[in-house]
Amino acid sequence: MQNFEFLNPTRIIFGEGREGQVGEWTAKYGKKVLLHYGGGSIKKSGLYDKIVESLKSSNVDFIELGGVQPNPRLALAQRGIELARAEKVDFVLAVGGGSTIDSAKAISIGVPYSGNVWDFYAGKAQAQAALPIGVVLTIPAAGSESSNSSVITNEDGMLKYGLNTDVFVPKFAILNPELTFTLPAYQTAAGATDMLAHVMERYFTNTTNVDLSDKLCEALMKSITKNAPNAIAEPENYDARAEVMWCGTLAHNNLVGMGRVGDWASHAIEHELSALFDIAHGAGLAIIFPAWMKYVYKHDIQRFCQFAVNVFGVEHNFAYPEKSALEGIERLELFFKKIGMPTHLTEANLPDVEANIRLMAKKAASRGSLGQFVKLDAEAIEKIYHIAL
Ligand code: NZQ
Ligand code: ZN
Repeated sequence: MQNFEFLNPTRIIFGEGREGQVGEWTAKYGKKVLLHYGGGSIKKSGLYDKIVESLKSSNVDFIELGGVQPNPRLALAQRGIELARAEKVDFVLAVGGGSTIDSAKAISIGVPYSGNVWDFYAGKAQAQAALPIGVVLTIPAAGSESSNSSVITNEDGMLKYGLNTDVFVPKFAILNPELTFTLPAYQTAAGATDMLAHVMERYFTNTTNVDLSDKLCEALMKSITKNAPNAIAEPENYDARAEVMWCGTLAHNNLVGMGRVGDWASHAIEHELSALFDIAHGAGLAIIFPAWMKYVYKHDIQRFCQFAVNVFGVEHNFAYPEKSALEGIERLELFFKKIGMPTHLTEANLPDVEANIRLMAKKAASRGSLGQFVKLDAEAIEKIYHIAL
């Protein structure tokens, strides 16, 4: 195990009806709030009205900016920054999923910065300050509610870049599993895939002697693969929704990544797909992760064997461990299929995807090689896209 520091300061406020306390929690941090949300699901579900009522009853003054789209765009965040400055906003409340939260995070660091907020994502500046943020989560997936990341797409070049900084980690996140009852099966499945991927990115490591975090990872992966199908079959099954929701947060608050080096190549390879084709991030991962595994598993057959046996209950073939390793990858693909995710590029209806493989690989490697488990250059990334076809 390597040296580490762990601090995750987000207060998780979990359970039925907890969104009714959003005004109370917001009032502890801000006087003038920017209420930020997506394309309208919160209005349809009635959540918007509940949030407004709670803010008003705590005498919190607010303005709003909706319209965040999945794979959130820089232009809307820039509009939010201008609006927040003009209205002297001192707190950003994100009500929605990873896209809304990530856009809120961009606004939070953009307001106190005199340059273009994209500078932070492009690695040209380091964020020193941020407006405080709160979250009411409506889709368990990205883990952005307590992560130190934000992923934004710059329409100029369709560059989808992630930024990690502790300054915009949310102060609180309200997680009521009931708010996820309205999620379509596809979004539930994409969310489950993303959280599974967050664990796998950390699980496939070259760091040795990480027994506890291996077991925590395996427990998370087993809980996700057990409960996500139940949440899809019975959208109003509170217990299944609650398990999935808590898994999503724990998969990405970095607890299970402590003391070990994660890989993260599959995420970067996927980000090129969702940047170019606007596919849901989770669906892109269901395609890319198995392809990545097929490309790298020989690097550490033992670890892939452990994954197969401990997560999917594959029998350990001691004579031919490679067989167990490959069966684990197959079971993962079967799980994705079972929950309705595509596992190949050709299933995802992406126009001219094959013709764009070289471009995506080039873009993915444009800031250096990807991955830690196995280092990947543009040529290797291209091969992975081809395996994914
Ligand atoms: O926009 P609305 O109308 O709200 O609809 C959303 C959206 O269409 C809908 N939805 C959300 N909650 C709902 C609902 N529909 C019905 N009922 C509900 N309760 O779901 C759709 C997807 O929402 P989105 O916020 O895009 O989903 P997700 O949480 O998966 O976020 C994806 C984004 O997060 C980034 C991804 O790359 C992608 O851009 N990520 C962010 C990370 C982070 N900040 O730590 C890490 C991740 O690896 C990921 O890269
Ligand atoms: Zn992800």
